[in-house]
Parts: sequence; C-alpha cells; structure tokens
Amino acid sequence: MTSFITTTTTVALFLLLLYTTATATTLYFDVTALKAIKAAINPSTIPSYSCLASWNFTSDPCSNPHVTHFLCGLSCSGNRVTQLTFDRAGYVGTLSPLVSKLTQLITIDVSDNKLSGPIPTALFSLPNLQTLNLRSNSFSGTIPPAISNLKSIQALDISHNSLSGSLPDTSSLLTLTRLDLSFNKLAGPIPKLPKNLIELAIKSNSLSGSLPKPSFNELTQLEVVELSDNSFTGVIPGWFLLQPSLQQVNLANNGFTGIEISKPINSNLIAVDVGYNKIVGYLSVNLSAYPMLSSLSLRYNKLYGPIPPEFSQKATLKRLFLDGNYLSGLPPKEFFSGKSSVSGSLGDNCLKNCPISSQLCLKSQKPSSVCQQAYGGKGKPKS
Ligand SMILES: *[C@@H]1O[C@H](CO)[C@@H](O)[C@H](O)[C@H]1NC(C)=O
Ligand SMILES: *[C@@H]1O[C@H](CO)[C@@H](O)[C@H](O)[C@H]1NC(C)=O
Repeated sequence: MTSFITTTTTVALFLLLLYTTATATTLYFDVTALKAIKAAINPSTIPSYSCLASWNFTSDPCSNPHVTHFLCGLSCSGNRVTQLTFDRAGYVGTLSPLVSKLTQLITIDVSDNKLSGPIPTALFSLPNLQTLNLRSNSFSGTIPPAISNLKSIQALDISHNSLSGSLPDTSSLLTLTRLDLSFNKLAGPIPKLPKNLIELAIKSNSLSGSLPKPSFNELTQLEVVELSDNSFTGVIPGWFLLQPSLQQVNLANNGFTGIEISKPINSNLIAVDVGYNKIVGYLSVNLSAYPMLSSLSLRYNKLYGPIPPEFSQKATLKRLFLDGNYLSGLPPKEFFSGKSSVSGSLGDNCLKNCPISSQLCLKSQKPSSVCQQAYGGKGKPKS
C-alpha cells in the first residue's frame, strides 16, 4: 500500500516535472531579475524594434515559441536564463545588480550600448559565467577585486569604457583565455596574469612601470599582446619576445628606452610593433632570426648604425618600418633588387643613397646637418 502511494506520487511528480519543462515556466527569481534589468534602462531609449521592447512580462520569458514577446535579448535552458545578449540599440541606463540572480547565466553581452555607472560587484558571483562582454559602454569606477571570483570565465571584454584605478589581480582565473581592458583609464603596473591567457589587450590606458617577468612567467599559451599607447618605461627584456607561443606584439607609443633581442630557438612570432618609443641602440640582427617574422616596426625611435643585410634577405618579411631613426650607411641593396616584396619605410634616417625610385625611400632622409649633429663626428649619436 505504502509502495503503491509512493509509486503514484513519484509518477505524479514526474508528470508535473515533464509539464513544467515543456512549458518552461521561468523560475520566479529569473523573472524578477529580468524585470529589474529592463527597469534599469531608460524607457525612452528602448526603440520599438529592439529586443528589450519585446520583453513583455504578460507572457513567460522562457516559454516557446516566441512569436510576439521576448523575441530576443535572452536565451534559456529549460526554465533558467542562460544568456543575456542586448542588441546594439543604444540603451541608456545601468546594469541591474539583480543580474546576479540569474545564476545559470553563461553569457552576458551588452556591448555597444550606453550603460553607465559602476560594474555591479554582484555580477562577479555568477558561478557559470564564461563570457562577459561589456565593451563600448560608459561603465566607470574601478574594477572590483571580486572579479577574481568568476571561476568559469573564459572571455572578459570591458574595453572602451571609463574604468579607472589599477588592474585587478586576475591570476586565479585559470579558465580565462581572452582579456581585453583596452581604451579605459587604468593606471599603475601590470599585476600577475592568469596563466592560461591566449590574448591580452590593455592598449590605450595609463599603465606604467616596466614589463615584469613574474607577470608573464607562466603564460605558455600567450599569442597576442597589445600594450600600445600606455606609459611603460624601461628596457624591453630579452625574455619578452621569446615567450613560447607569442605571435603578435604591440608595444608602440610607450616610453621604452631599450630593447634586448635574443636569438630565438623556436618562435612563432609574426608581427612586432615597438614604434614611437625612445629606444636607443643598434638594430639587432637577431630580429631577422625569428623564422616567421612578417611585420616589423621600430619607427620613430633613436636607432643608429647600419641596417644589417639579413633583413633584406629575409623571405618572410613583408612589412618593415624603420623610418624616423638615425640609421646610417648604405641600405642593403637587396631591398631594391626587384625580388624583394618588402613594403614600409626607411625614410627620415641618415641613410646614404636610398634610391627614391623605391617606395621604401619615398620619405626623404634627415638633413645631413641633423645627422652630423646627432653623430657628433663619431660612430653613434650623442644621447
Ligand atoms: C504586453 O502584451 C499584452 C498582451 O499581449 C498587451 O495587451 C500589452 O499592451 C503589452 N504591453 C506592452 C507594454 O507592450
Ligand atoms: C643576439 O642573441 C645572442 C644570444 O641570444 C646574444 O648573446 C647577443 O647579445 C644578441 N645580439 C644582439 C646584437 O642583440
């Protein structure tokens, strides 16, 4: 008898569960959160064609099919919201902290809108969040240290906002592979970085200090580093370009004063841009030993001495910008042999007989008075 009741109850519960799943009556907390998220957007900035305009809570957010209401802006799995993806409708407002009640969220993408105010700290408690894209909004304030609680995060893009303060310690985020904090107002040094990063972009901020070895030490998968347009100083150390997976490096427009270039043993480096710094020294022949190097810029630094002929014999090299230095002597003639497919510029240096028939030499060399003064009659320029 007891067994019969138990069985009946189980069957009844099972049928109820089936029914619930089929109609997907969204979890009450998720509905509450969605209402708060919409209410945090200024209604006059919700165009009638937009996703948020279709969020009409007389119908259930997760139930299908979406014919008139909840046409877009969210996805569900069963009765839980798993994705919050605003369209680029120009929404003005804030991101409601109640977003943290959507505990099954995997993706948040509200990029290219006009959301402002601080990034709600509560958001960082979301245990399943893999993608957080707040790019191109007006979020301000600092990046809360609680960001290190995002235990499932893989891609984090908060670029093109107005964030200030220092870079948080994200080294405990072992699932993070893509981090973009470019175009903000972040200052201070580079902290320790998460070791599984593949792409690091923090360009156009106010970061300073040198490139610290402990920050990059364990990053064996790092392929792309974008640190241009900051205030970094010091010498670019030899280990930096030797990082094992490195393919693209942009350190342009900083205050670096030197670069150490070691011969690679094995390197995937394709593109290096260290233009517009204050690098003093010879153009190291070791750069030409990077087997895949295709694009190199050292323009507008203070390089002096000759251009090693190895650069003109390097088949992989397609773009070479050495203009705006004090390079001297005759440029290697293989550049002009007709076989070379290198484009770029050798102009605005102290080179002799750079043939103006070559586009590499279109920009004229420095006046000889400037070069004589720079070299002071000796082999290298006065600093
Ligand atoms: C929501 O939908 C109901 C019925 O479909 C409709 O009567 C109501 O006007 C809608 N509300 C808004 C704000 O569009
Ligand atoms: C080239 O690399 C070698 C070995 O890594 C190093 O000892 C040497 O100083 C480098 N030379 C230049 C000119 O950078």
